[in-house]
Amino acid sequence: MRQTKIEDFLELEEHNKELEQRVKEEVFKNREKDKLMFQQAKLASMGEMLGNISHQWRQPLMEISSIFLPIEAKLNMDIPLDNKEVLDSIEKLNDITKYMSNTIDDFKNFFLKDKEKIHFEILEQINSTVNIISSSLKVHDIKLDIIIQKNTVMLGYKNEYSQVLINIINNARDILVQRKIQNPKIKITITENKNDIITKIEDNAGGIKITPIEKVFDPFFTYEKINGSGIGLFMSKLIIENNMNGKLEVSNNKEGAIFTVIIPKS
Ligand SMILES: Nc1ncnc2c1ncn2[C@@H]1O[C@H](COP(=O)(O)OP(=O)(O)OP(=O)(O)O)[C@@H](O)[C@H]1O
Ligand SMILES: [Mg+2]
Repeated sequence: MRQTKIEDFLELEEHNKELEQRVKEEVFKNREKDKLMFQQAKLASMGEMLGNISHQWRQPLMEISSIFLPIEAKLNMDIPLDNKEVLDSIEKLNDITKYMSNTIDDFKNFFLKDKEKIHFEILEQINSTVNIISSSLKVHDIKLDIIIQKNTVMLGYKNEYSQVLINIINNARDILVQRKIQNPKIKITITENKNDIITKIEDNAGGIKITPIEKVFDPFFTYEKINGSGIGLFMSKLIIENNMNGKLEVSNNKEGAIFTVIIPKS
């Protein structure tokens, strides 16, 4: 009787070890899968960014050609150009090319792999993020309000933080456009409490019509959208929760969806 008990115990012990090993293997496999998804997500958002940059450049390119047009016409018709006119045009061109080069820098910084957590100013980061998306909002007459309680410093990966904001704002834009909302609006509010910095992104597109609402964070979950790949929010949640020890939450209010990014101060 005693004997069998010990044998049982040993067998159980053996079984447990096997199980433990299998759990380890599965966890490892899942991690590898996450990495792969992350790469795919980066590629997808790169496509989105290229879309944004072409948006961002269309306007200044038009401006450049409109500066050249009168000069070319005058030269063709042998009308003399005065120096001041040419210098004014050159100054305008300088401003425009500087702006275009800034957008490229924003774009490049965005895709640099953030190596270590750094302290960055929220206001500055929000500004460069908004620079990247503003013209695609303007095209659709979407009003963007930014309310910053205090220009705090955040510890984390600044490019990845921007990437999350862009994903959330682009989603709101897509739904606002798709549902043809009157007076479309996006509001970003930044507040802080003792432990966290909280970024809220709200829209007035009518909300997320999926239950349970957390499903929006599932990989490849896309709904209502024509070209959605369902990766944006999955990736955003990974960035915030796995890389920055924060939380990304979603809810609806009576106007639309609210995404809340909570980042611990330390
Ligand atoms: N602000 C919002 N209002 C209403 N629905 C939303 C909003 N944001 C996201 N959703 C819903 O959540 C789904 C998942 O979003 P997610 O960003 O993960 O994927 P996607 O936008 O469809 O595709 P991708 O971002 O990969 O191009 C969307 O398809 C949309 O149905
Ligand atoms: Mg998306």
